[in-house]
Amino acid sequence: MSSMTHDMTNAQPLRVLGIETSCDETAIALLRVEGERLHVEQNLVTSQISIHERYGGVVPEIAARSHVPEMISLLSKSLGDSWSEAFDAIAVTRGPGLSMALLVGLESAKLLAVLSGKPIIGVNHLEGHLASSWLNAENRARWQFPLLALSVSGGHSELLLAKQDGSYEILGGTRDDAAGEAFDKAAKIMGLPYPGGPQIAKLAERGRVGVFSLPRPMLTDEGLDFSFSGLKTAVRVLWEKEGERIKADDQRRYDLAKEVQQAIVDVLVEKTRRAIERAGVQAVVLVGGVSANEELRRQMRAMIEVNFPGVAFLPSDRAYITDNAAMIAAAGVWHLQRGESHDPLTLDLDPELSL
Ligand code: KG4
Ligand code: ZN
Repeated sequence: MSSMTHDMTNAQPLRVLGIETSCDETAIALLRVEGERLHVEQNLVTSQISIHERYGGVVPEIAARSHVPEMISLLSKSLGDSWSEAFDAIAVTRGPGLSMALLVGLESAKLLAVLSGKPIIGVNHLEGHLASSWLNAENRARWQFPLLALSVSGGHSELLLAKQDGSYEILGGTRDDAAGEAFDKAAKIMGLPYPGGPQIAKLAERGRVGVFSLPRPMLTDEGLDFSFSGLKTAVRVLWEKEGERIKADDQRRYDLAKEVQQAIVDVLVEKTRRAIERAGVQAVVLVGGVSANEELRRQMRAMIEVNFPGVAFLPSDRAYITDNAAMIAAAGVWHLQRGESHDPLTLDLDPELSL
């Protein structure tokens, strides 16, 4: 990464084209920033879920090949004939993700950068998720460093400390299953379809507290790491013993879903409480697929209000929780405003990129 010669001071309007293809979503966005104001002018996402469903997971080569026609179609639709006039800079996901999938977005972005002569910045997908919260105007107004982020998805459960200078420190991570995986695996044992998180959440709405009792893994551990495989095992053991009875009784299915959800929420909320206490942060960001969970949002907010009255709680808007390019453009803005950009000829993907 190098410092740019382009003038990108905060006062100048800046239009950033965001491009994201790290997994099975092809996404592009146009973000306009002017002083404190930010406007998502376009946010296009096409999902390949129906293509991968029949294989029971994302097939990398199929994902990559499907990104190509989608990328061409989305770019021509959103940029139009005077394409090089539509943006001032490009932000593209360079990792982590599936390398062949990342390649499609990255090479498209590099080509546009070279042909237009506009600056390009390669963005970390996880920083993009963090920036999804910053797309919300109220969150932006309360954005303060050091900032704690709980990022919880099907592949990640992390407590990150974001600092003023743009660097990150990982305070805690998962030792085995991610929080979303814990929802998905428990749901699978209960015979519910994938993805299991929303299914468990739906059943849990009618569940009663305290009918079942599952372990809260790692709550006795002083550290900030998570571990959810013990929960999965406990659900399996319970299901082997009582599954037939639970299956036949709707109320018991609701009750078990309630307990699965509460066990996961308890762990996430308590580890976040400890991280706030230790790191002394002013704001807490909640991002990733699991952040769609209503009970997690509600209980996290309540925990912060009770224990840390001055600390801001900044969950992402629902519209930007799943993979999209507006969040990539937003993270790009952070770098561009610091005068950073990449050389399009040498910018490379990194499937294992870390923060
Ligand atoms: O971030 P995401 O869309 O994809 C990646 O994993 O990258 O996260 C998907 C995960 C899945 O495990 C899904 O079950 C979970 O988020 N999820 C939920 C809810 N909605 C999605 N988990 C709990 N409650 C929800 N409402
Ligand atoms: Zn993602």
